[in-house]
This record gives sequence, structure tokens and C-alpha cells, in this order.
Amino acid sequence: MNMFKAAVIGLGNIGFFFDLDPLRKETWSHVSAYIKCLRTELVGVVDVDKEKIDIFKQHHNVLTFESIKELMENTAVDIVSICTPTEDHYAILKKLIEYPVKAIFCEKPLAPDICQAKEMVKLCKEKNIVLAINHTRRWDSNYQFAKELIEKGKIGKIKAVNTFYPGQLFNIGTHLLDAVRMLIQKDPCVLSGVSFDIEAQDPSVSGWIEFDESILCTVIATGERKDLVFEIDVVGDEGRMRIIENGEKVEWFVFVESTRCSGYRELSLMQMDPIQKKDRFVESINDIVSVIDGDESTVRCTGNDGYYSLALSVALFESAKEKGMTVNIGEFNAS
Ligand SMILES: NC(=O)c1ccc[n+]([C@@H]2O[C@H](COP(=O)([O-])OP(=O)(O)OC[C@H]3O[C@@H](n4cnc5c(N)ncnc54)[C@H](O)[C@@H]3O)[C@@H](O)[C@H]2O)c1
Repeated sequence: MNMFKAAVIGLGNIGFFFDLDPLRKETWSHVSAYIKCLRTELVGVVDVDKEKIDIFKQHHNVLTFESIKELMENTAVDIVSICTPTEDHYAILKKLIEYPVKAIFCEKPLAPDICQAKEMVKLCKEKNIVLAINHTRRWDSNYQFAKELIEKGKIGKIKAVNTFYPGQLFNIGTHLLDAVRMLIQKDPCVLSGVSFDIEAQDPSVSGWIEFDESILCTVIATGERKDLVFEIDVVGDEGRMRIIENGEKVEWFVFVESTRCSGYRELSLMQMDPIQKKDRFVESINDIVSVIDGDESTVRCTGNDGYYSLALSVALFESAKEKGMTVNIGEFNAS
């Protein structure tokens, strides 16, 4: 079993600090994910904030650095996580690719704009560096289960999708749009957005997206970020798959002959064995490792996927700014 050396840039919430929240029982930080993964060793962390480094040192005996240069010139690193604010992802990725890294695990959204995102994907491709984006649901057992059932045709041909997210299009909406793409595996064609706070730093945008094969998807922003409503409801011509309770519960229904009206069918809830939950953050690291070790060809959330969810969010935002003007989506492809 090959082992890989890992480093984390940025010791904020997702880099490290979420670990200090006593209510978060699963793995919630890059630092913990690398420590728990049996195939990685956390060899260094970087933060420009000395206070963050001091707090980190109280919990871990790992080398700390104040710059990427210092980290990369003092340690050999295979996988690096970018956990800094989104505005810095591009500049940091450009610095990292000057060194012989094998994989970059970048936080979402990939970048603040699609030009930077596109270039990040291109640069990693040119340098043969695996780029993975942390849209966490791609490694979540419930979402994986729903995806596999949909793939196997258990709800038939997809007809409609209904989604809710709390708000903040770029922070949270990018996760939602990525999860929808993962589940239905179709490309969007046209969309329209509406927002009641379009001037906000990260506005909440609702709207609709038409995907290939005339699948209409509603996107509803419900309110405040802190009120965790994140739901996806996929209806097919043979059944329905709902992911509810902020991703904690999956329901699968099939259409059966109605016992109440002749000539109609109604949805019946299927009994299922409990889904075996894996630790999704550790799974994401295992996935990256399996690609750099040659066991898998691609990570579950690629740079192109990250680019795609950002580009869709930008299109929804532009539409909402123009009072719902429909936007035709050409092929989004970063490569
Ligand atoms: N996948 C998820 O579920 C999830 C959850 C939270 C945040 N995020 C994303 O993670 C990123 C970071 O968010 P956060 O809430 O952890 O931010 P944060 O502000 O809590 O932490 C960012 C950290 O990066 C450090 N930093 C800034 N510039 C740096 C540099 N040049 N070199 C080294 N360190 C630097 C800061 O000092 C800070 O400690 C954002 O892109 C955000 O959207 C993703």
C-alpha cells in the first residue's frame, strides 16, 4: 500500500477549525481527513494567521509554515488542500503547480469567477496534476446510494427535479447544482433566475433550469444560511427519489396501481435496508489517493465539475440580475 504525503493551506473552518465544534461528530476538516485516512500522512500546514497556527499547535504535532514557499521547500508533498477564502484559490493553485505535487484538493467554489476557474482546470491538466473539488456530497453514502438507484433506472426516466437550499448561491448553491448534476447526469440547456437580494455579497437566487431531455429543475432558496434546508426530489416515470433532512434521509418511491381510483398510479414508499454510512471526508481523500496511485482514472468531483457548478451559478446570477431573462447554456467545459 503506497502512502502519500499531504499538506493543508488555510487553517480556517474547513481546513481545521470545524474540528473544534463539539456537535460535529463526523470528519469535518481537511486536517482530520488526512490524519484519519490510512493512506496519507499530514506533513505540514500553512496559514498566514499566527493565532490560527498557535491554536492548531495545541491540537496537533505537525510542521507549520507561514508561506507555501516555506512548506514546499522544506517538505516533499504529494497532495495539497486549498482551504483559503475563495478569492485566493487561483493565486495559491498557481504557486503550488510550480512544485511537483500530484494532486490538489481545492475547496468550493473553485474560484470567484469562471475565467480563473477555467484556467485552474487547464493548468492542472497541462501539468498532469489531479484536481478535485470538495463538493462533499459526491462522496456521501446517501447521495451515492440515490445516484446508483437512479442510474439503474429504479425511478424510470427522469421527468422533473425539485430542489431547496438555504441561500447564498456561490457558497451553498454551487453544492446544490453540483449534486443535481451528479444525480441526474444530464446537461443544462436553458435557465432563469430570480433574487430578492441580488446586491448582497453572495445573493440567494431561485429559478428554474431545463436539463437535456426536457427535465425541468426548480431551484428554491428558502431563507437564511443558518437554516439548513438542503433537499433534492427527483421524479421519474416509474418512481421518485427524495433526499431530505439536510441529506440525512433518502426515500425511494415507485408508482403502483392506485387502489383509490381506477386507471391511476400512486407513489408507494419502498422499504430499504439502512444505508451503510461511510465517512465522506475520508472517502474523498481515499478517492484522490486511488487516482494518483493509478487504481482509478478520475476523482468523483473533478475540476471540470467544480467549474460547471460555478458556471451554472454565474448564469443563474446573471439571469436574476436581468429580472429572470432566460439564458441559453452552451456547453460548459473547462478543458
Ligand atoms: N466544502 C464545504 O462544505 C465548505 C465549508 C466551508 C467552507 N468551504 C470553502 O472553504 C474555503 C475557506 O472557507 P473557510 O470558511 O474555512 O474560511 P476561513 O476564513 O475560516 O479560513 C481561511 C483560512 O485561510 C487562511 N489564509 C488566507 N490566505 C492565506 C494564504 N495566502 N496562505 C495561507 N493561509 C491563508 C486564513 O488566515 C484563514 O485561517 C472557501 O472557499 C469556502 O467556500 C467549503
